[in-house]
Amino acid sequence: MSALVLVGAQWGDEGKGKITDFLAERADCVVRYQGGSNAGHTIVVDDQKFQLHLVPSGILYPDTDCIIGNGVVVDPELLIQEIKDLNARGVSTDRLYISSRATVLMPYHRLLDAVEEDSSTQKIGTTKRGIGPAYTDKIARRGFRMVDLLYLDELKQILKDAIDQKNLILEKIYGKPGIDLDEALARCEDYRNQLGKYIVDTSVLVNNAIASGKKVLFEGAQGTLLDIDHGTYPYVTSSYPTAGGACIGSGVGPTRISKVLGVAKAYTTRVGEGPFPTELFDEIGEHIRQKGAEFGTTTGRARRCGWLDIVILRYAARVNGLTDIALTKLDVLDELDTIKVAVGYRYKGQEINEFPESLQVLSDCEPIFKEFPGWKQDTSKARTLEDLPQAARNYIDFIAQATGVKISMVAVGPGRGETITVNPLFS
Ligand code: IMP
Repeated sequence: MSALVLVGAQWGDEGKGKITDFLAERADCVVRYQGGSNAGHTIVVDDQKFQLHLVPSGILYPDTDCIIGNGVVVDPELLIQEIKDLNARGVSTDRLYISSRATVLMPYHRLLDAVEEDSSTQKIGTTKRGIGPAYTDKIARRGFRMVDLLYLDELKQILKDAIDQKNLILEKIYGKPGIDLDEALARCEDYRNQLGKYIVDTSVLVNNAIASGKKVLFEGAQGTLLDIDHGTYPYVTSSYPTAGGACIGSGVGPTRISKVLGVAKAYTTRVGEGPFPTELFDEIGEHIRQKGAEFGTTTGRARRCGWLDIVILRYAARVNGLTDIALTKLDVLDELDTIKVAVGYRYKGQEINEFPESLQVLSDCEPIFKEFPGWKQDTSKARTLEDLPQAARNYIDFIAQATGVKISMVAVGPGRGETITVNPLFS
């Protein structure tokens, strides 16, 4: 049995796309289990850049099954576009499967996300991809699922109820024009025509794959601190990027999971609002942003950059049950004289070692830093740990020891080959 869950250990953008792509070559099946087109995974193959939002990263390998699980909110318009773009670049989508239980994200969800965010006094900094409103409808039992697209007559009434409610909100609260039911129905018909062939009960596929000994990779989007329960609420997304979400979001029991890999950058970034204890506001932060190309794949926004935070990684190790870590973007630190790592926080004169649940406390926490000498050497050509400068190895060893989790992969550049495998995750 080989079922590996890959999760972001920080605030998203940890380089999960690259690691997923690397592991997907060894996997038989890659499953997305939460989120939607708010995710943006960048994969570089032979100088060609692919940016995937909904399609699992395994799609670039012809023999890998790619599954969009029930926990995902699927924006059919964007998915159709993504499929067309992939096909136009010679990538087949014949092995793509969409869960019949996945929630459909409609254009009105995107519209609501934008008006709610724009009119809110407490901005979350969402991607405006409709994620929150789509999950809200799902939980309020006002949404509909991919399978409903196959039964358009029945869908008409569900859609009418949903649109009546949306129009009340749009017209009465926000003074915006309402949505036209017939137009929405026509869209759904188009979605069915273009996506119908991909819609199946994917829980059966994933469980069968695991039972027959295939290698299954669960590809998380966003990150631990954006989890609706375990993240820095309310500055979070509306789904479960943590490891438990993989089970719920794909219809697989916890007993089927064999390993949980946390992907962590060698430093920390965050997009959107909310406290960030190790944030850098100086030229080092700017250097990391430029060298690390820290600009959002989905929104183009500049990411906030800061030092690595061990308090966060220990928290991620706990709530996800991490068995391994993939440390990414080590090369971004190559030119720094000194590298700092937060090993704890000081709050009102007291030392805190656990990640606080109160945002007020977190905002007032001052990081306690440990300093490491920089290695001042190009690491991008390293292909084994031994190829790395000793100072870089010391940095990696420290992270493993401080989190209690082994570092099984190290990424030293964006390309597929720029990866060091310390412990193979799929044997
Ligand atoms: P939403 O997921 O669009 O509702 O956005 C909620 C919060 O999650 C915002 O702070 C976003 O910037 C953040 N977020 C959503 N998706 C990603 C991602 O893929 N990477 C990093 N941050 C994200």
